[in-house]
Amino acid sequence: MKSDSYTSYFRKDIDEMEGYAPGEQLNIPELIKLNTNENPFPPCPGVFQALANVDPERLRLYPNPTSDPVRDEIAKMFGLTRDNVIACNGSDDTLSITVRCFSSATLPIACLRPSYTLYPTLAALHGAPVKYIDLADDFGMPDDVLDQLKGTNLFLIARPNAPTGNSFPRELMENICANYRGMVLIDEAYADFAADNCADFVNRFPNVIVSRTFSKSRSLAGLRFGFALAHPRTIAGMMKMKDSYNVSYLTQTLAIAALRDTEYFTDCVDKIRMAREMLLAGLLDLGFEVVPSETNFLFAAPPDGDGERCFRELRARNILVRYFPYPRTKRYVRISIGTSNQVVKLWAVLAELYGDNRK
Ligand SMILES: Cc1ncc(COP(=O)(O)O)c(C=O)c1O
Repeated sequence: MKSDSYTSYFRKDIDEMEGYAPGEQLNIPELIKLNTNENPFPPCPGVFQALANVDPERLRLYPNPTSDPVRDEIAKMFGLTRDNVIACNGSDDTLSITVRCFSSATLPIACLRPSYTLYPTLAALHGAPVKYIDLADDFGMPDDVLDQLKGTNLFLIARPNAPTGNSFPRELMENICANYRGMVLIDEAYADFAADNCADFVNRFPNVIVSRTFSKSRSLAGLRFGFALAHPRTIAGMMKMKDSYNVSYLTQTLAIAALRDTEYFTDCVDKIRMAREMLLAGLLDLGFEVVPSETNFLFAAPPDGDGERCFRELRARNILVRYFPYPRTKRYVRISIGTSNQVVKLWAVLAELYGDNRK
């Protein structure tokens, strides 16, 4: 068919926008894949066991529409009730539900810059204006954040932030949540790797949603499971917006198995934190500038300040990291923390490239 024979019936803004561009998912065996903050370790043994026990006959039936068994497990873990929890198809589903619930053409959203670029994309898809709040030079929160938030209805904050990796002080978060007249979504995709989190805010601030995912700390990015904690009224409203069966039977079953294997989980998180500190020391030694990280990745600027060159040179040597070609991020690459073995290989390549700057 000739391409010019296509008549578009899309909304004009959808036709004109760029879609969200996820990190590449290449399947090259020798590739060291450090570009999408996946976990280098396999899911916990309990997940393997639960998968082996799945009866395919069960897949004939719809899953529990509101994922009640897994919500109960999560509620228990946080000392909350089922009414405080919504289960989602990955945290991107949580974010999409939230944007659709709390924004519109006349209810703008606010997000930090640089931060997770899916936020403005979701707003654009939904026809909601975006107020960008630029982070300070050190990627901290600007002092006048509350002033800048005026007139917006939803503030999306990744804490710790991505792609920068740093966190924001809890007192600052408390101040924002207490004084902002709108909904705050705290995206805690990386909180399991951090020194603290804001899960307890759910009991204290009715305008807070805390979002978590199994994609990073629980090695289950392919499963697609995330959840959010919030006031029961907020959860009830979000339930209206979600797809009827937004979490599959397989996902619900395996998510429960993952939650019960606490020892393996803690062990994996510890190993990643250790590998993160090892890579940090190695990068500093080569003259990189590295943002303090509370995540499973490091945001690092090579000594020549050319993030794109670093990305390309690594890629040519079968190491894939992420490069964001925007004004505030172009000096850096974002490197997901792999196994200590992968960290050693990465460092050897970087030492070849930047060894002259060695301290
Ligand atoms: C800040 C942040 N939030 C959410 C996500 C999405 O996670 P999920 O796989 O649960 O959709 C990511 C993924 O990279 C992320 O960086």
